[in-house]
Amino acid sequence: MIFAEAPSNIALIKYMGKNPEVSDTNRPTNASLSYTLDHLRSRVEIQNSSAESDSWQALQSPGWLPIELSEKGREKFLKHFQFLKKHWGIHGCFQLSSANNFPAGAGIASSASSFAALTLATYELAKSLNLTADVSRSELADLSRRGSGSSGRSLFSGYCLWDAEGFQQVGQEWPQLMHDLIVLDEEHKSVSSSEAHLRILTSSQFAGRIDRVDARLKKLFEAFNQADISSGAQVVWDEFWDMHTLFHTSQPPFFYMNENTMKVLRLIQIECSQLTWPLVTMDAGANIHILYFKGQENLRKHLHKCLSEFKIISEVIS
Ligand code: PMV
Repeated sequence: MIFAEAPSNIALIKYMGKNPEVSDTNRPTNASLSYTLDHLRSRVEIQNSSAESDSWQALQSPGWLPIELSEKGREKFLKHFQFLKKHWGIHGCFQLSSANNFPAGAGIASSASSFAALTLATYELAKSLNLTADVSRSELADLSRRGSGSSGRSLFSGYCLWDAEGFQQVGQEWPQLMHDLIVLDEEHKSVSSSEAHLRILTSSQFAGRIDRVDARLKKLFEAFNQADISSGAQVVWDEFWDMHTLFHTSQPPFFYMNENTMKVLRLIQIECSQLTWPLVTMDAGANIHILYFKGQENLRKHLHKCLSEFKIISEVIS
């Protein structure tokens, strides 16, 4: 049995919008920058199978919570595996099993961690069959990107930049962050991120998006390089609102935020108004990610108290 694990990541500057004119899959319209979430992980196991086709099942293993995959989700996962098999010249059929260490119903997009783990596990399989020499992380990230764009960023720890040059780790000297996820919706999304990537191209606000992202990326690099937390927090806040505004102004519009999202955002705004903010961001979903800097431990404890009515998945840093 061959296996691999990979972490999730949260974008501080979002990958939102796919170039529909490029045939190569998952080519973004803009650069993105993420922080890898080591505590939210996926595991993929690969076993030889005597069946006539590849198959997938939820992994049952102590410490891992089985994933529920829709028919479409299963197809997408197997399609990526078949792409990787072809890439490395792997023959035969296999049984894939996968699981996350976070609850499936927590509304956390697990495609980044699970596609990254699938890419790594298939690479291990190719190595075990002597079908490949060592491959760099950037090359593996680019292969993973073919299955799920954001998964390429999960191949790196810390901060990852994905731009026209590809994927690379950046900011090794930038601050380590402590992550909390405020779970405000446990349902599957009504609009998938694949659909969102295409629909936002119809938004009147899409014009200028690439320039806005470039300016924010530059500002965020400056902020982290100068340890200017306030300015970094402002950029990250603006960026998730920009992405959600694209959703709200697409044709037809769609919404992920719910009443609790607004309640928590207002509460954060009130409680942090006299303080240096943590990084607050959202994915294509209703849940809120908060990333705290060193020195913000008391603020984190305080917000945990204020948000005690909600489920929080909290990173524990020893
Ligand atoms: O990798 P995908 O196609 O699931 O896209 C995910 C895009 C967002 O999560 C909404 C933003 C991002 O950059 O991760």
